[in-house]
Amino acid sequence: MNLLLCFTMVHSSRDYFLYFAYGSNLLRRRIRINNPSAEFVGIGLLENHQLDFVKYYGNWGGAVATAVPRPSKTVWGAIWKMHMDDQASLDMQEGVANKEYFAKMVQIYTPDGIKTKCRTYQHTFTPQVLMANELLPYERRPSITYKEVIVQGAIECSLPTDYIEMLKLLPHNGRNASDDIRKRLGM
Ligand SMILES: *[C@@H]1O[C@H](CO)[C@@H](O)[C@H](O)[C@H]1NC(C)=O
Repeated sequence: MNLLLCFTMVHSSRDYFLYFAYGSNLLRRRIRINNPSAEFVGIGLLENHQLDFVKYYGNWGGAVATAVPRPSKTVWGAIWKMHMDDQASLDMQEGVANKEYFAKMVQIYTPDGIKTKCRTYQHTFTPQVLMANELLPYERRPSITYKEVIVQGAIECSLPTDYIEMLKLLPHNGRNASDDIRKRLGM
């Protein structure tokens, strides 16, 4: 099915929504743990946002990704078509009720120039902007596992090569995620 047709169908259907993922949910087997209906539609670009990392999450063994509004920065991600029934489980995974992340609608551009509205999540805590060439401070670094999930997801989705290279250069904190998460991810 071509992309345009797919978007048209999604827009005309009330049973599905589009979700823009930029963190661990780039990886198919990760998103499917909680959201079995997720279908990959394509990659997309979120303008005027920057990928950043916040807060220590014990199960991940490190900080997790957020997309922070910052002028002239861009975040690449995956557009997933999700069944409405999965919206609650996605909100739960993102900790919306606990005020970890909040959901918002954003305009996403595909490489073909199609504009589409997607649901995405931003962490409620906005980290301080780093200086040019300043590395993520230790307490904001993702674990080995979380970084690996993002990099593998970016490769699996075929995000642009320079963006994948940027992800590979992110410093990690030298820790692994919990055994439970690693087992579920097969990592
Ligand atoms: C992380 O996991 C790898 C692979 O299982 C292991 O070799 C390494 O020792 C672990 N590192 C830490 C800090 O637990």
